[in-house]
Amino acid sequence: MKISTVKDEREKRVAITPETTKKYVSLGFEVIIPKSIGDSAGFSCEEYVAAGATIHKKKSIPDADLYLCVKPSLKEELKLPSGSYLVAMLTPPRNQKVLEQMIKNGINLCALEKIPRISRAQSMDVLSSQANVAGYRAVLEALVEYRRVVPLLMTAAGTIRPAKVLVLGAGIAGLQAIATAKRLGAVVHAFDVRAAAKEQVESLGASFIEVEEQCDGETTGGYAREMDENYQKRQAEKLLQVIRKMDIVITTAQIPGKPAPKLIIKDMVDAMPAGAVIVDMSTETGGNCELSEEDKVIKVGEVSIIGYSDLAARVAQDASQLFARNVFNFVSLMIKGGKIDISDEIVKSTLVEI
Ligand code: NAI
Repeated sequence: MKISTVKDEREKRVAITPETTKKYVSLGFEVIIPKSIGDSAGFSCEEYVAAGATIHKKKSIPDADLYLCVKPSLKEELKLPSGSYLVAMLTPPRNQKVLEQMIKNGINLCALEKIPRISRAQSMDVLSSQANVAGYRAVLEALVEYRRVVPLLMTAAGTIRPAKVLVLGAGIAGLQAIATAKRLGAVVHAFDVRAAAKEQVESLGASFIEVEEQCDGETTGGYAREMDENYQKRQAEKLLQVIRKMDIVITTAQIPGKPAPKLIIKDMVDAMPAGAVIVDMSTETGGNCELSEEDKVIKVGEVSIIGYSDLAARVAQDASQLFARNVFNFVSLMIKGGKIDISDEIVKSTLVEI
């Protein structure tokens, strides 16, 4: 059984690292790595070879049974052999047409975003591992635009007050952003519609912002639900009061399968202090701020709004290490007796169908 991957000019992360190459080889796989694919994540061809891989030096896609990728751009279909499997983040609704064509070409597609968030699948959950790294990076990106220091500075030349950071949405990315901002010395506030988030936010030393008559927005599946209009209005009023005092806002709010809730409107941006920075992590699903633009940094008055959708890829090496381990755990479920077997419920749930 041959495992390989496909080079994507826009993606810095890799789905196979030297570490996982060694594991695949010890399971009896042949691992074929396109030349220089690991360069952008800091993995050299020599490391892959030492781990047991063969390097594919041609420009063509290597012949394999199983292709492991991170997030192919899918502007057009990948020309993979019929009967092969592609395991990657495929964002199915967005790439519907291309994916349909690939299925028609006989390629089997496993979309890693469809892995259920259940305990048995935790070690395969690429959304969580990447959101974690991205939440960390979001804070660092904010600092690139921020003109001031974050911690309290007491110097002979006077005192500088610590930055005030607000995190909207305290899930995986949000909690990591809170922890990172705290470690840098910021005064951190956070908000979420799920009542359970309060304890988690406070355990990280941040204060939880509550909307008047806060009601629990958690579904039985543990995710957030869409809040009614009345709640949204109260939330917007509260946010307008709070946001005018904030230096940095990181937004991570999402409702699975729905466009990102619009939490920050123009009036709120206009009310922020000069030099403030917003990092909207949800631009890929429409954005939490009505002004943000995907993959751009824009200025609205004196406020910078960052809309990068590749935050995890900006920490390519560690993001790849985690991603590749997630994928290895997933592939281990797919292989039985040296053959691909998709009977496991977790594997089945990832299959893309027309
Ligand atoms: P998550 O589902 O763990 O967390 C989202 C949080 O938003 C939940 O705690 C939920 O209760 C909260 N929420 C939902 N509606 C809300 C509302 N109206 N007000 C306040 N909070 C609300 O999701 P995760 O994994 O943390 O990802 C967060 C976002 O970051 C997603 O949109 C994801 O696509 C994005 N992301 C972006 C990356 C980038 O490079 N920009 C990389 C990785 C993830």
